[in-house]
Amino acid sequence: MKIRDLESGYGSVQILWGVDMSLREGAITALLGPNGAGKSTLLRSIFGTVRPWKGSILYRDEDILHLPPHRKVDRGIALVPEGRHVFAGMTVKENLLLGAYRKRARERMEGNLGLVFSLFPILEERQDQRAGTLSGGEQQMLTIARSLMASPELMMLDEPSQGLAPKVVEEVFSALTRIREEGVTILLVEQNVENVLSIADYVYILNEGRVVGEGRPDEIEKAGLRKAYLGL
Ligand SMILES: Nc1ncnc2c1ncn2[C@@H]1O[C@H](COP(=O)(O)OP(=O)(O)O)[C@@H](O)[C@H]1O
Ligand SMILES: [Mg+2]
Repeated sequence: MKIRDLESGYGSVQILWGVDMSLREGAITALLGPNGAGKSTLLRSIFGTVRPWKGSILYRDEDILHLPPHRKVDRGIALVPEGRHVFAGMTVKENLLLGAYRKRARERMEGNLGLVFSLFPILEERQDQRAGTLSGGEQQMLTIARSLMASPELMMLDEPSQGLAPKVVEEVFSALTRIREEGVTILLVEQNVENVLSIADYVYILNEGRVVGEGRPDEIEKAGLRKAYLGL
């Protein structure tokens, strides 16, 4: 995916100011930056839940800038938004099957269910349990797993480790590297700089709606970008 000169915002308030970003297929690209930098807005603008103002988003030789979210889902793009989103009254398995409602996913439902159960064995154990009874970490896993049920080629995740205990954070990050091994391209927004720099293939730093740095994790360290923008 190639994002060029993307501008976006809310109402008349501009948040993103000409963002350029490329996502390499099968890699984990991380998006870091301070609170309020516009990271969530960028993910929503790519996905279409916030309408981008101008620019282009080239994906498989097509400009998908103005496509609505469901058309992007059909092209294999998924967004796991901030927070945990499970249907508390439904079972774990029912939650997972809901993720596979589009045609492209229904055809691959069995295989995808096997994949998410191998990534998150706890979900297989709890498949008949109501989702509302899961721990916070398990609900986050279910949120990620349900998104995988849509058979994404590109998965965007907004702070999936937020509010989780360190041990669960590790599980989520290790699941992400295994999802990459499945060939899924990942765009990961995180506050958890340490963990991100250890798994990302490439990093962008966003500040006040602009890309202020990019590079491999070692280059980010060397250039002092971490101290300058991430306060660590
Ligand atoms: N739904 C919204 N309506 C209006 N302004 C918003 C909305 N969501 C975020 N903003 C504003 O957009 C800016 C960027 O926010 P956000 O994209 O959430 O940053 P980040 O995810 O990097 O913390 C902030 O100034 C925030 O107040
Ligand atoms: Mg955010």
